Amino acid sequence: AKEPVRVLVTGAAGQIGYALVPMIARGVMLGPDQPVILHMLDIPPAAEALNGVKMELVDAAFPLLKGVVATTDVVEACTGVNIAVMVGGFPRKEGMERKDVMSKNVSIYKSQASALEKHAAANCKVVVVANPANTNALILKEFAPSIPEKNITCLTRLDHNRALGQISERLNVQVSDVKNVIIWGNHSSTQYPDVNHATVKTPAGEKPVRELVKDDAWLNAEFITTVQQRGAAIIKARKLSSALSAASSACDHIHDWVLGTPEGTWVSMGVYSDGSYNVPAGLIYSFPVTCQNGEWKIVQGLGIDEFSRKKLDLTADELSEEKALAYSCLT
Ligand code: NAI
Repeated sequence: AKEPVRVLVTGAAGQIGYALVPMIARGVMLGPDQPVILHMLDIPPAAEALNGVKMELVDAAFPLLKGVVATTDVVEACTGVNIAVMVGGFPRKEGMERKDVMSKNVSIYKSQASALEKHAAANCKVVVVANPANTNALILKEFAPSIPEKNITCLTRLDHNRALGQISERLNVQVSDVKNVIIWGNHSSTQYPDVNHATVKTPAGEKPVRELVKDDAWLNAEFITTVQQRGAAIIKARKLSSALSAASSACDHIHDWVLGTPEGTWVSMGVYSDGSYNVPAGLIYSFPVTCQNGEWKIVQGLGIDEFSRKKLDLTADELSEEKALAYSCLT
């Protein structure tokens, strides 16, 4: 039998946490033959709710779930974890300045970085979900210098999956037959959902999405804004943010990172830029990646037209500004 993998979920008493922990316990994230031990962290005001989630995990009698740690102590939460899903953060409240929200999250991610660095298992893989996801991940990286930078990522898979969903709805095809969309940049409304390399499996072979949709006006405008603003549309409809799809996409992110992407398929992940595609090095930026043996690699050599170039640069500029703002909170 396999040794259990320890998976940390921060903010586990929140909305995404409530959708995410049962998925992990059912094997959605790491596979149906991989036992897990869940580590759940939240803050003291949520301690009772967190304990309630723990009670439900016990009650659900998941065969793969070999243990549950539910705590408000960051050291206990981080000890020995192999995977860390960082969902906890400080939400923007009405009337708050951007800088104040950033400042709260910078201090959270700074201290959780230190705890992970000191207490997580060697080679722990980290995905940051909490917003501003890219910049929180960057702060985590800066304050956990002994964790390899390739192990620190942020979630843009939800945006990637949303793009797949929009194409599948538009063409009335199975979402599993659509692949290789790309989310470039920030997990924010400046992200660039790019379909220039995306394809659909048809009875006549793989066809480019552009050839099948035959409506560049839609692809270059409405498709992009729909994906960029989908989060806001869900909040408007549900009066709550997207939790089910965020949780599911976080599972996809870790699943593909650990178990690999299928041959000929890439996914989008926020990773530490090495300057690929002339994106400034030193930002956490969403790129197309393939994964093998537990490591991601940025897909190289894709053509970037002028329209795309502008959009790649715009979202990079926003991330550089966020980075500057985050650093200004450190002093
Ligand atoms: P929520 O407010 O329901 O849950 C957040 C939880 O984090 C709360 O239980 C809170 O007590 C906890 N928390 C706050 N500070 C903490 C700390 N220092 N340590 C541990 N836990 C802490 O929010 P929800 O809906 O679950 O969303 C969580 C985050 O995910 C938000 O920042 C949201 O903007 C972000 N998000 C990101 C998406 C993505 O695609 N990257 C998609 C959807 C949401």
